[in-house]
Amino acid sequence: MKVHNVELTISAVRPEQYPGDGFPEIALVGRSNVGKSSLINTLIGRKSYARTSGQPGKTQTLNFYNVESKLFLVDVPGYGYAKVSKKEREKWGRMIETYLTKRPSLKGVISLIDARHEPTELDIQMLDFLHYYQLPVLTVGTKIDKVSRSKWNKVTSSALKKIGFLNKDAFTLFSAVDKTGNDAIWAWIEKMTK
Ligand code: GTP
Ligand code: MG
Repeated sequence: MKVHNVELTISAVRPEQYPGDGFPEIALVGRSNVGKSSLINTLIGRKSYARTSGQPGKTQTLNFYNVESKLFLVDVPGYGYAKVSKKEREKWGRMIETYLTKRPSLKGVISLIDARHEPTELDIQMLDFLHYYQLPVLTVGTKIDKVSRSKWNKVTSSALKKIGFLNKDAFTLFSAVDKTGNDAIWAWIEKMTK
């Protein structure tokens, strides 16, 4: 999709704050610093509309980006950031769980993993959780610009093996640096939100 209009409608922490427009939503989940906000910027064709950082833990709220008054991309705070207190982690857990399990407009989840490494235990837990709630998932192996092309097939097959893939799921490689995978991700989003 060629995006002309995008707006950060709200940064929400509680369900009462979620937008009421009724547009279909696609959420982005993944470890802190994996590149969720960067993926949103690539999808909407903006350099730094969604705030990104080299430091993990940048995104702290559910950020609803209205795209073309058609759909929302929802930036979700990352998991697995060691410096967060137990109390903060629990708060995060409740906020995410409430959103992912009780939101009728949520039509699919993009789950990001770092293409340079095997999926972590937390990545697998998140995928199991999404499957349990029968949410359609696109797994994205990101930062692929840091992996030489000759290894792309290997990265894909070992990620799929580790994830223990369900047939209905999809997988794609992505780079926010050179936009590899942008069209494939948009195609999936449009399929899920039409
Ligand atoms: P939190 O908000 O902390 O959960 O992180 P996030 O998942 O939103 O990550 P963010 O988009 O802020 O990116 C983290 C860092 O990774 C930044 O320094 C980005 O520039 C870098 N980064 C993100 N995507 C890519 C990519 O595809 N390739 C490369 N080389 N770097 C990337
Ligand atoms: Mg972020």
